[in-house]
Amino acid sequence: MRTSEQTFPADFTFGVATSAYQVEGGIENDWAEWERAGRLKEPHARCGRAVDHWNRYEEDYRLATAVGATAFRISLEWARIEPERGRFDEAALEGYRERLLKMKAHGLTPVVTLHHFTHPTWFHRETPWHSAQSVEVFRRYSRRCAALLEGLDARVITFNEPMVLLLGGYLQGAIPPGIADGALTMKALENLVRSHVVARRELGEKLGRVETGISQNMLAFAPDRWWNPLDRALVRLGGQAYNHAFHEALSTGKLRVNMPGVATARVDIPEARDSAEFVGVNYYSRAHLRFVPRPPFIEFKYRDTQGRGLTDIGWEDWPEGFLQTLRDVKRYGKPVWITENGIDDRTGTRRPKYLHTHLAQVLAARAEGVDVQGYLYWSLLDNFEWLEGWGPRFGLYHVDFDTLERKPTPACDYFRQVATGRKLVAPL
Ligand code: BGC
Repeated sequence: MRTSEQTFPADFTFGVATSAYQVEGGIENDWAEWERAGRLKEPHARCGRAVDHWNRYEEDYRLATAVGATAFRISLEWARIEPERGRFDEAALEGYRERLLKMKAHGLTPVVTLHHFTHPTWFHRETPWHSAQSVEVFRRYSRRCAALLEGLDARVITFNEPMVLLLGGYLQGAIPPGIADGALTMKALENLVRSHVVARRELGEKLGRVETGISQNMLAFAPDRWWNPLDRALVRLGGQAYNHAFHEALSTGKLRVNMPGVATARVDIPEARDSAEFVGVNYYSRAHLRFVPRPPFIEFKYRDTQGRGLTDIGWEDWPEGFLQTLRDVKRYGKPVWITENGIDDRTGTRRPKYLHTHLAQVLAARAEGVDVQGYLYWSLLDNFEWLEGWGPRFGLYHVDFDTLERKPTPACDYFRQVATGRKLVAPL
């Protein structure tokens, strides 16, 4: 590698990522209901006060700057902002604005997600994503969000991982709203694309040009049996649907999903054409797909193909797939932001190496001409990990879930070294 390829330019952004429900605490929404219904892996687990970021935000901004971060990704909690349909909570809006102003004062550029998996409790009952009204409801919410972002120069992510929401919430029924229906999934997908478009329009009207995009969970896919044509077809069709259908709709205005027997969509949404300023990539791992002769026809597994050991949550550590993913999004011709990348490492010992190997792929992609402009580590802090509850630890900072004390893991030093020195050196 040439030296220039070992170096991040001065305008490359290093930052950290969080989401409201996972860190703030004290939120009543569809996930809180899901927990009370005993739907987590550990039926008694509760998010509750999370890691109290709502009160400890200033401490957390300091922790972020201490590792050299200059950007901080949060999400706005819709349930706080619009607890009843059509009633907006001014105190919550003001609360977010205050926090974002403080964030800026700490030298952190806000990256703001409007929707990160959670909904107000009324949403699924009154205007679920498969209903046409969902688009108008999201437009109104976005309008309020736009007003609170005035003058902040925030980068905006309308939806975090819409395909994860749809796969988990509409196809498998494992997360709220717990629907398992291929046709409704596709209707919901279409409305999410439309909602992105109207939200971006509201942001633009209020704020002028705003860098707006989505964060897409992107997996490197491989056939479980390399020689099996059905496994290979799944990789092709599944990879296209999961990784690209949404990005592609925002680029071309054509929404295409072709998963025979599972879900299909063929809708033209001309107003979605060229409706993102950047491509947001959340990359974690590789998955092997295997055809099984009964619905849903797909078996999905993580395998430790390299003997590196699965991560603690059970995912393959596969930095090579990061480069493949970044090459793959070059087709959209837009700047790329890594809006999440990270490891569940409960002892904190593997994270520096994970960072090193994954950042090396970012440099390799840049050397190939992929315009990657920023890297946000998931996550600043250990936090509430959805169905997995309190087991996983993705944080640069370890959080004692009893005392809520934050303590640096060994990756903090390493992250600071790279973010401030701009050189990718191997961890000690
Ligand atoms: C999500 C985060 C989650 C992380 C680790 C992403 O899918 O956006 O909310 O905590 O991955 O699972």
